[in-house]
Amino acid sequence: MDLLLGQTVRFSSDPFKGPVSDCVSHETRGAIAVENGLIRDIGTADQLKSDYPQAKITDYGDALLSPGFVDTHVHYPQTAIIASWGKRLIDWLNSYTFPEESRFGDAGHATAVAETYFNLVTASGTTTTVSYCTIHPESVDAYFTAAQKRGLRVLGGKTCMDRNAPDNLVDTAQSAYDDSKALLGRWHGQDRLSYVITPRFAPTSTPEQLEALGTLWSENPDLLMQTHISEQHEEIAWVADLFPDAKDYLDVYERFGLFGPGALLGHAIHLTDRERDRIRETDASLIHCPTSNMFIGSGLFDMHGLMEQGHRIGLATDTGGGSSFSMLRTMAAAYEVGQLNGHPLHPAQLWWLATEGSARAIRMEDKIGTLAPGSEADIAVIDLSSTPGIAQRSARAEDIWQAVFPTIMMGDDRAIQAVWANGVCLKS
Ligand code: GUN
Ligand code: ZN
Repeated sequence: MDLLLGQTVRFSSDPFKGPVSDCVSHETRGAIAVENGLIRDIGTADQLKSDYPQAKITDYGDALLSPGFVDTHVHYPQTAIIASWGKRLIDWLNSYTFPEESRFGDAGHATAVAETYFNLVTASGTTTTVSYCTIHPESVDAYFTAAQKRGLRVLGGKTCMDRNAPDNLVDTAQSAYDDSKALLGRWHGQDRLSYVITPRFAPTSTPEQLEALGTLWSENPDLLMQTHISEQHEEIAWVADLFPDAKDYLDVYERFGLFGPGALLGHAIHLTDRERDRIRETDASLIHCPTSNMFIGSGLFDMHGLMEQGHRIGLATDTGGGSSFSMLRTMAAAYEVGQLNGHPLHPAQLWWLATEGSARAIRMEDKIGTLAPGSEADIAVIDLSSTPGIAQRSARAEDIWQAVFPTIMMGDDRAIQAVWANGVCLKS
């Protein structure tokens, strides 16, 4: 058994639903007992040291022991084109994204990028990612192989698209169905890996392909399904053009069987009232990608209004439309979007979104995203004084959230002192 010592915060309830002080308990000298890949116990350092006298102790001082971050929407194949300048969504896809994604039929390239990607995200404290791969099965194999090697709990799927993309980057309705089915048979449920059915978005799939993927989902109803919705106005107008019979963007997915409680809807910035109501009553998940929304110039996600309405919301980098691999930077961007909307998020809400809230969005809060006994031992150890600028500010803090907020706003991979995945230390 391992005993990790440091500060701990635990959420007893959703900090969007009540005063933060009622939802969180903080331990200055806390401890987590880890055994066989799981969190066995959590409490004070004194108590757990006396309860488990044989445990191997790693003392992280006053660093914060947090659940590893859960990044609910990424495109790992866009790792090498992150921070590509000057385009909005459709031009950005055509100029930067599609040329890079077309290289992933080469298994060597896919493996090299997947390795780089997981090195970057684990160094940033992220222990779960939900990725779009490319149309190529090789890209899915590379992603899951690299994650499996590191013992990570990750999710992902083959991106399906059979129109409005370059000739060397399209599949067909039939091959999308066949390849997705073969890949989910190969990977879903292996170790900590989960397959996600992945139509890229309505403009790049024919009705036949959407229908085939809706059929695949109905045959595998326990899987999650991920796609994009209502990111930019030009995109929404394009969808209306391509699907003139649909009531709205959401209805395109719904009429082909691609909408239900297990849907992860990326961006969701410009939803109509009908779409918001329908998503709420279905309890599907919305995925907020704030660095991406500002980088590609998409707009401001209505976190406050959607949370008030009771939506299930995850947080995500959207690498490489998003401009960071780090969930710290992503929390900072969510804070800034909240400010621009007139509703600043509390640091506890931001931290919850990056951990338990995101785990809830992908319906895995019984496994990851919390420090509850029985949860899988994916833990990020956060240095709350990782740079001189952060240290001089956190030294003034009067409570734990004042101590955490400078790291949210100014922290990066230097703040990640150690990372544990599945009970094993990956970075120290
Ligand atoms: N919409 C469809 N594909 C993509 C993508 O790769 N990134 C973003 N940000 N939006 C998309
Ligand atoms: Zn995306």
